[in-house]
Amino acid sequence: MLTPEGGTAYPAGLASLSPARCYLFPVTSTLSPATPYGLSGGRAESCQASAFTGGKAAGGGSIVIAAFENQTLIQGDFFQVAGELEAGSVALVLADPPYGSITQAQPWDIPVNFARLGRALARLLHPTGQIAIFADFTTAVDIYTAFGTSGFEFRFTFIWEKYPGQPVNLSRPISDVELILIFKRQGARVGDLIFNADEVKTPGQPYRKTSFTEVNPTRRGIKATVFENHDGQRHPRTVLRYPAKPCMVKSERTTHPCQKPTALLEYLIRLLSNEGDTILDPFTGSGSTLVACHRLKRQGIGFELAPEYFDMAKTRLEQETAQGVLL
Ligand SMILES: C[S@@+](CC[C@H](N)C(=O)[O-])C[C@H]1O[C@@H](n2cnc3c(N)ncnc32)[C@H](O)[C@@H]1O
Repeated sequence: MLTPEGGTAYPAGLASLSPARCYLFPVTSTLSPATPYGLSGGRAESCQASAFTGGKAAGGGSIVIAAFENQTLIQGDFFQVAGELEAGSVALVLADPPYGSITQAQPWDIPVNFARLGRALARLLHPTGQIAIFADFTTAVDIYTAFGTSGFEFRFTFIWEKYPGQPVNLSRPISDVELILIFKRQGARVGDLIFNADEVKTPGQPYRKTSFTEVNPTRRGIKATVFENHDGQRHPRTVLRYPAKPCMVKSERTTHPCQKPTALLEYLIRLLSNEGDTILDPFTGSGSTLVACHRLKRQGIGFELAPEYFDMAKTRLEQETAQGVLL
């Protein structure tokens, strides 16, 4: 792995070139540290919002890397390049894979081989890391089966209730939910996993709840337990209600047909990771995950196969990081 000029390893599996805000992801022995990905001298000349071309992925295809402060956006096939990332370095995988349900309209919507995805993630995920993966029902079944044989254990699911719903045809209900499945490594202790409930609690009215049990009878035959909620804050719930694309604010909307709302991704990131953690999005699309990572001070690594969506994500990150500089 490359180290920055002081010799200290950069955090979270990222190797920094000079200057400090510019990152490339880890380089294994297959690539020369002096000229990673064909960069002359191994140096990026302009760091913010710059794209580096001409590199070779492990599988032989070319890749493009754009680095923005702590966000690294890679144009290429995740499966070809995943082997270059440092094992065990990812705290949270936030994945929104193609479901293969709109392949006729969208050429990129090729169903993912989830067994292969599971194997790649099994190498990259930190021992106490978690995976949050979007799915429709049939995709969820495939993911559940494949990840179960890749060393992962299903924890729970969120249901994204999206508005407006999308009509499919007259013989089916309007489609207005997607699932988000949460996995951990088999054998990882739940107590060691990140679940920052306080970060995402929602406000409500304080309340007092009395329940009765016959297990420990008093003279009156029953024992009352009283729970008092003083601050009104509510624990996270399974159903998360966030807008689908037509209801997102105009400044957020891109032309990517499957763009996810940044607020929903921010919710998942706050709940399931800490500041400074590395978050991997293998199917970045318009870059929503990296935008959320930038806002929440996480180190994002995103892959996108289609050049037009890579450019879209790059533009969003350019705008996002420029705003940070202005503010
Ligand atoms: C469902 S979309 C993701 C949308 C994203 N969450 C957003 O908010 O814009 C899936 C994306 O994965 C990309 N993709 C498909 N296979 C890929 C692969 N093997 N490596 C990298 N990207 C891939 C597609 O081009 C598509 O843009």
